[in-house]
Amino acid sequence: MNKQISNNSLLVPSDFIIIGGGGDLSLRKIMPALFWIFLDNQINKESRIIICLRQKSNIEEYSSKLLPYCKEAIENKTINKKKWSEFKSLIQIVVLDVVSGEGLNNLSLLVNNKCNLKRPCIFYLSIASSLIGDACNVIKKGSLNFPQSRLVIEKPIGHNKSSAIIINKKLYDIFEEHQIYRIDHYLGKETVQNLMALRFANTFFENQWDNKNIDNVQITVAETIGVEDRIGYYNEYGAIKDMLQNHLLQLICLVAMEPPSYFDVDQVRDEKLRVLKALKPLKETEIQIGQYQGYESELGKRSNTETFVSLEVCIENWRWAGVPFYIRTGKKMPSRASEIVITFKKKPHDIFSKLKENQAEDLPNRLIIRVQPQEGLKLQLISKAPGAGEIKFFPSELNLSFSDSFSYRLPDAYERLLMDVVMGNQTLFMRSDEVLAAWDYIDPIVKMVKNNPPELYVPGTSGPKDNILLHNGHVWIDPKDDLK
Ligand code: BG6
Repeated sequence: MNKQISNNSLLVPSDFIIIGGGGDLSLRKIMPALFWIFLDNQINKESRIIICLRQKSNIEEYSSKLLPYCKEAIENKTINKKKWSEFKSLIQIVVLDVVSGEGLNNLSLLVNNKCNLKRPCIFYLSIASSLIGDACNVIKKGSLNFPQSRLVIEKPIGHNKSSAIIINKKLYDIFEEHQIYRIDHYLGKETVQNLMALRFANTFFENQWDNKNIDNVQITVAETIGVEDRIGYYNEYGAIKDMLQNHLLQLICLVAMEPPSYFDVDQVRDEKLRVLKALKPLKETEIQIGQYQGYESELGKRSNTETFVSLEVCIENWRWAGVPFYIRTGKKMPSRASEIVITFKKKPHDIFSKLKENQAEDLPNRLIIRVQPQEGLKLQLISKAPGAGEIKFFPSELNLSFSDSFSYRLPDAYERLLMDVVMGNQTLFMRSDEVLAAWDYIDPIVKMVKNNPPELYVPGTSGPKDNILLHNGHVWIDPKDDLK
């Protein structure tokens, strides 16, 4: 079955102002996402992309740096070469130093030149969180915080709760909450949004979605890459602040939240917040941290920064009491795979217990939600093997692969989220209280593991030997490459 469902719509003319436009995130994610949206004819040709760089540059120099990241899109169709030139004509370069404010006049002139058109002015701060305050000062000084301005910032917001509060104050100094878009790109991933559809657009799963029916939940976000040229940033943060505080906690929220009354921006965020507030403080025996061998030589010094973390999360409410949520993420794992595995409880009574061969029949039902790659869902069931004689069972699967079901490319998370910013839809962005509640959970964890050296693991393996699930008689379900 191959479906053609598309919701392409032309966005209103907008100004995208990317502060830190020459950085890794901008080149690898933001600009290619804008180019894909442009190829889908969703970016209005009246729009402008203003790239703020610290060093003087020009369009040709900048676009040659960007080219490798847009190559796949350019080569997708012959016409895209022409479109690449059209896209380049939307780009303008401005030199701006957010710390000294140098270059602000030029940016103001450029932006003000069209601001009377009341078009959305989207400031994307693609910079370290320590520079957010400076960037806000610059926007304020240049009086660029128009009512139609929007601000996009990246995770992690601060490095603990108190620094996040300071950043929030800075943001509120110039913007109101409805103008602030705190990106967690995991919320823009197709399967992550599908989790809400799966739960709340069907009755089938939601009726089973509690501690009476679910035995445990596992969430794995595994990457094959190491820290590469982001090691300076990464060594300050580690897996707990880089991945757990945001992406993984958000995934937990979507699995565990109560159904909101409506799919409305604040109702969804209120429900996620309730989950964050119900997280039980972690004990030392419920967390393991690891570091891949060779990390310290990449860094050139000793370090206790974790590149792997696994933990048992408990949610203290009626729906989830007693259901462990096992969470893990790591770099240099055997394969790149993000999966949510819901293991259902075993049946209360086995009517087949007197059969001689009923081994497979004892396996629990599992719902596997593959976030990436090969996005899809798989439901593991027990079926009867065909044939006469004594009934025999075998494990079977219902497989729904999104890439097979839809004939077009699934958009990258940044494409979806950037479009939401232009359309003024904050549902998939974190509200300030969510960020603070996430830090409430994470700060004590960071403190707890601070003096524990991480266990070393061999690159290409699944991290240190498990010491958490073992105590509950569970094992990690490793992602398999079979959702095709
Ligand atoms: C980022 C982290 O937010 O997410 C990176 O800072 C990580 O360390 C990345 O590699 C993973 O994103 P994705 O979309 O490739 O799973």
